[in-house]
Amino acid sequence: MLASAAMPSRDDAPSHRFLRACLRLPVDRTPVWMMRQAGRYLPQYRAVRATTSFLGLCKNPELACEVTMQPINEFGFDAAILFSDILIPVEAMGVPLEFGDEGPKLEPLRDRAAIARLIDPDPEATMPFVPEAVRCIKRALDGRVPLIGFAGAPFTLAAYAVEGSGSKEWRRAKALLFSDPVAGHDLLERFTRTVCRYLEAQVAAGADAVQIFDSWAGTLSPADFDEFALRWARELISRLRASPAFAARRVPIIYFANGCAPYLGRLASSGADVLGIDWRVDLGEARARLGSEVAVQGNLDPAALFAPPSEIERRVEGVIRSAGDAPGHIFNLGHGVQPETNPEHVRAMVAAVHRYGVRTAQP
Ligand code: CP3
Repeated sequence: MLASAAMPSRDDAPSHRFLRACLRLPVDRTPVWMMRQAGRYLPQYRAVRATTSFLGLCKNPELACEVTMQPINEFGFDAAILFSDILIPVEAMGVPLEFGDEGPKLEPLRDRAAIARLIDPDPEATMPFVPEAVRCIKRALDGRVPLIGFAGAPFTLAAYAVEGSGSKEWRRAKALLFSDPVAGHDLLERFTRTVCRYLEAQVAAGADAVQIFDSWAGTLSPADFDEFALRWARELISRLRASPAFAARRVPIIYFANGCAPYLGRLASSGADVLGIDWRVDLGEARARLGSEVAVQGNLDPAALFAPPSEIERRVEGVIRSAGDAPGHIFNLGHGVQPETNPEHVRAMVAAVHRYGVRTAQP
């Protein structure tokens, strides 16, 4: 863990249990939120979405605010997450982007010339709807719960930008990184720079914490994970720590590298305050391997929400027991909630966290 992250003194310690857990401070009960908590499993989201395209929704601050608030009002999560998408800054770098039925489509970057044409966007000028949505959500939340800003990690953004879409194998993206690592690292550095400014803009607008999504890092071998994913995530995190927006308040940084249970030993050095953990590893084992210097977030299998409420309750209790009672666990799914999920099962999950959540000490 990088040493720049001083623990807050008693006087500036945050009071919300989500932020406290991020900083491994005692809480009155395990906090809970859910990746993709605003989305298609909610009828009220689908009603708003019926009036506009997905990108139209991301670019309309009032509507983005409305859908961000839906799961907060419906389930009482302990944190809100900005409604947007990891690919918004890629579009701002000059890469045409569309969302169709099969997910995102981008104009693929296949060579050095295409990488050289990318621009370094000023977030306030090219994505003003993002900081505007953050301000709108902060007003709507009115201090109820903290707001998480987010961005894609450099590797995951590079994977989409080179491939031009989602993929199982990431053949083209890996081919570029492995055959022309100089161009690959150039591209990763461009994304690192853009994401750094983009997250600074979200924090300057009021985001209380940030999560970096490395959704596809788990498709890499250990050596490639070190070279192409972790190295740049760590670089991004250290730049964020040095930035005035992050130093002014103690803004926790969460790094979620999906599918990276085999790389826990390596992840301990990411510099993040919190590591998102997918469901392929027991949380107790993860904490034992990571040590006590980092908080963990996770890790119920999203498919558990397709079981009946009694089974959901049993599995939630299992996750909380595995996490143990040392400070620094945030309950979440191990990846995003699936669109076919029954909202009543999400309610059952939250109720189970309320029931079995751990008081780590008197706050
Ligand atoms: O968590 C939240 O509630 C905040 C909103 C959020 C969305 N995307 C909304 C969204 C967040 C944090 C993201 C991040 C994101 N976007 C990731 C990283 C998280 C992860 O799942 O690993 C990735 C890989 C993307 C890229 C992306 N966006 C894909 C591959 C897709 C298509 C597949 C899918 O799930 O639909 C999207 C679309 C998307 N992003 C939707 C939502 C609500 C569905 C779009 C719709 O309403 O039609």
